[in-house]
Amino acid sequence: MHEFLIWFWVFYFCRFWELDFELLRVFGNYRPFQIRICVISITALGIWLVLYFLGHNMSFTGPSVGSGGRTVRRALEFGRTYVVRPKGRHQATVVWLHGLGDNGSSWSQLLETLPLPNIKWICPTAPTQPLSIFGGFPSTAWFDVGELSEDAPDDIEGLDASAAHVANLLSTEPADIKLGVGGFSMGAATALYSATCFTAGKYGNNNPYPANLSAVVGLSGWLPCAKTLKNRLEGTDEARRRATSLPVLLCHGKGDDVVVYKFGEKSSRALSSTGFQDVTFKSYNGLGHYTIPEEMDEVCGWLTSKLGLDGSS
Ligand SMILES: *[C@@H]1O[C@H](CO)[C@@H](O)[C@H](O)[C@H]1NC(C)=O
Ligand SMILES: *[C@@H]1O[C@H](CO)[C@@H](O)[C@H](O)[C@H]1NC(C)=O
Repeated sequence: MHEFLIWFWVFYFCRFWELDFELLRVFGNYRPFQIRICVISITALGIWLVLYFLGHNMSFTGPSVGSGGRTVRRALEFGRTYVVRPKGRHQATVVWLHGLGDNGSSWSQLLETLPLPNIKWICPTAPTQPLSIFGGFPSTAWFDVGELSEDAPDDIEGLDASAAHVANLLSTEPADIKLGVGGFSMGAATALYSATCFTAGKYGNNNPYPANLSAVVGLSGWLPCAKTLKNRLEGTDEARRRATSLPVLLCHGKGDDVVVYKFGEKSSRALSSTGFQDVTFKSYNGLGHYTIPEEMDEVCGWLTSKLGLDGSS
């Protein structure tokens, strides 16, 4: 549209100059006054258009996403957060992240029914943002995805923003409360990314990660930035120690046609091979891209034991 306007203007501008010169040749300085007014006003309009578009482009040239191939910085605004209060003694707080296009409300209703009276659940809602996978159509999402494949570039800026949102939600919890992150699908990917940030001690942008995680759960998801994980964790004993002790539970349906089973399996292997020693991987025959009570039972038992909740025997 902008290109069209500019070409439209350039075309008419040239035609009028041409006409003006033609008239100048024929009439000398006595060429019709209206033509000169036309040339001047069209020139002014053109200059205004150019300045307008320059200014317009200027205001959007913030830091670029680089890996995502976009140059426009997004103003991320997270949606509503739903909290499920513990029915018993508060011992742990878990931030739970929904999948693509969903919201915190639907998961908070499910989590409320689980037999985990000592957990406070915090279910935030992702920002609504244009998604490459939908050709730019907006949806609630924790970060941008182009395609669900290992070669797809990771949206580090979006992942960092969501991981920071999660850490901020956890940072106000009392010091004696154990902290966890979990999620489904893209929420699981964000939870696993948070696990790598906690372990490395910093986000992808090198800012320090501020929370202490005691458990991470990922259902039907994948591990973003798996290729660079080894580099991120190398070097510090502290990172090695955190990787060794952080418990991670991954569950995946073998019939998942959205985030295919092999991505879940590969993520589990990527974690194990980079020093995560407490990784549990559960697979479910015939399970698609959704959850079933059997899987949630596994989550409950695992959280109870890893977080040392009262319910554990
Ligand atoms: C949340 O998502 C569910 C579908 O998962 C939908 O039915 C509901 O209307 C949504 N709620 C809000 C507040 O957007
Ligand atoms: C995290 O735990 C370590 C010890 O395990 C402690 O030194 C540190 O202060 C804790 N950080 C926060 C933000 O609670």
